[in-house]
Amino acid sequence: MARVLVTRQLPDGGLVPLERAGHEIVQRDDDRPFTHDELLAAVREVDAVVCLLTDRIDAAVLTAGAARLKVVANVAVGYDNIDVAAAARAGVAVCNTPGVLDETTADLAFLLVLAASRLASEAEADLRAGRWRGWGITQYLGHDVHGATLGLVGYGRIGQAVARRAAGFGMQVLHHTRHDTGVTGWHADLDEMLAVCDIVSLHVPLTDATHHLFDVARLRRMRPGAVLVNTSRGSVVDEAALAAALEDGHLFAAGLDVYEREPDVHPRLLAAPRTVLLPHIGSASQATRRRMAELACEGVNAVLAGERPTNLVTI
Ligand code: GLV
Repeated sequence: MARVLVTRQLPDGGLVPLERAGHEIVQRDDDRPFTHDELLAAVREVDAVVCLLTDRIDAAVLTAGAARLKVVANVAVGYDNIDVAAAARAGVAVCNTPGVLDETTADLAFLLVLAASRLASEAEADLRAGRWRGWGITQYLGHDVHGATLGLVGYGRIGQAVARRAAGFGMQVLHHTRHDTGVTGWHADLDEMLAVCDIVSLHVPLTDATHHLFDVARLRRMRPGAVLVNTSRGSVVDEAALAAALEDGHLFAAGLDVYEREPDVHPRLLAAPRTVLLPHIGSASQATRRRMAELACEGVNAVLAGERPTNLVTI
C-alpha cells in the first residue's frame, strides 16, 4: 500500500480512484494550503502527491521527496507551479489533467468575451448599487460580439473549443501559434494578427517564452478599442500595462479569470474601467472539477503500478 499526500480538499468523489486502488490517503481536515516548509516536510513521508496549482512544487520540494516520491499529479492542465526539469532530475513523474476541462474552460472564456464586450459587470454593479435610474438609449453601449474578428493566441484543445463557439456567433476566427496548424486563419506573426482583431483571447501555457507576452508594446499593437480576454495564466499579461491601456482607453475592455499574483489582483486592474474580473473559475463546473481530480488520481495509480499514465507530462 502506497501513501498519497492530497494537499487540499477535492470535489466529492474525486479521490475514488485512490480509494479503489487501496492507497493510504494523507489529507488534512481543513482546506488550508500547505506552506512551503510544510510541503518540504510532508513529501518525505509519501510515495505520491496530488496537488493543486496553488502548491509550489519547486526543486527544493522535489529534492526533499526524492528518496521515496515517485509521482506528483497536478489537478490542473497547466503545470507552471511544478518545476518539471527538477522533477525529471529527481526521477519523479509529473501528471496533469489534459482533455477533461476544455469545453468547460472554453465556456468561461466565451462568457468573458460576451460580458467584457457588453460591459455586463459595470452595468450589473450600477444596478446592484442603486445607481441605475431607468432605461437610457445611450447607457452601457458595448461592442457587438457577433460578426467581430476573434484572435486566439494559442490553438490547443481549449483554443479550438473557443473557436467552435465563435463560429456559432458568426465571428471571423484567426489564431496564432508558433507552428503552422494548417487550419484556415493561422497567423505566423502575432502582431499582424492583433492588428486586425476586435477581440483577443489567450490560450497559451505559462512558460519563459509566454511570460508577459502581452507587455506594454504588444498591448499597444492591439487594435484601438479591442477587447482582451485571459483564461490562461495571469503572468502572460503585464497587469500594470493592461491597466494603463484600459485607463487611457486604448483597449475597450478586458475579461480576466487569472492574475499574476493570485489571490491578489493588481489594484489598478480592480479600479480600471470596463473590466470583468473572475476568481480563476475557468474549469469550475461540478462535473469537470470531479473528473480533473479523478484523472490526477488515475495518473498516480498508473505510475505507482509501474504503468505509463495517459496524462504524463514528464518523467
Ligand atoms: C486551471 O487553471 C488549470 O490549469 O487547469
